[in-house]
Amino acid sequence: MTRLSVGTPEQMERLGAAIASVLRAGDVVALNGELGAGKTTLTRGLGDALGIRGTVTSPTFVLARTHPRPAGGAPLVHVDAYRLTHPAELDDLDIDFEGSIVVVEWAAGMLDAVADAWLQVDIRRPMGGRVSVGQETDEGVEPREVELTGHGDRWAGVEVAGNRLD
Ligand SMILES: Nc1ncnc2c1ncn2[C@@H]1O[C@H](COP(=O)(O)OP(=O)(O)OP(=O)(O)O)[C@@H](O)[C@H]1O
Ligand SMILES: [Mg+2]
Repeated sequence: MTRLSVGTPEQMERLGAAIASVLRAGDVVALNGELGAGKTTLTRGLGDALGIRGTVTSPTFVLARTHPRPAGGAPLVHVDAYRLTHPAELDDLDIDFEGSIVVVEWAAGMLDAVADAWLQVDIRRPMGGRVSVGQETDEGVEPREVELTGHGDRWAGVEVAGNRLD
């Protein structure tokens, strides 16, 4: 397990890009964290680094969006599991896990039935929106604490931004 402090949304996008650099078809990234933690921000940086067409947004009604990569490579499938109540509903989406890179927001407890391995990213707001007087920053920018944990053999010894995951 690796713990990182991520100071700004830009840094969160850079962390997404660092994760993208180790990803290949068949990989699953599980994002956990409260509303507004930064899951989509990380996914946006990850998608940009993969060279997806368009940009990652917060899906409102769409549960899973596939982003092709015009320059080649497995597509990015971005899943928002917020509205799913049972893991079987994720299975029902018929995602091509083998042929894609799959990023799942609100992934806790959803993946056991569909994947053997995943990279888990837990995002927290240690100050919980209560930045102390004198520490206020622009536009609600506030540090996040991020934990990276590899589940399954796939992630043993893998490094993200210079940090070994096991
Ligand atoms: N250090 C930081 N890292 C990431 N985002 C930050 C940071 N500081 C402030 N923010 C802001 O927090 C918000 C994070 O929103 P984002 O949509 O990425 O969260 P989310 O976890 O996907 O939320 P949801 O659960 O609604 O999908 C953005 O507005 C971003 O600019
Ligand atoms: Mg989101």
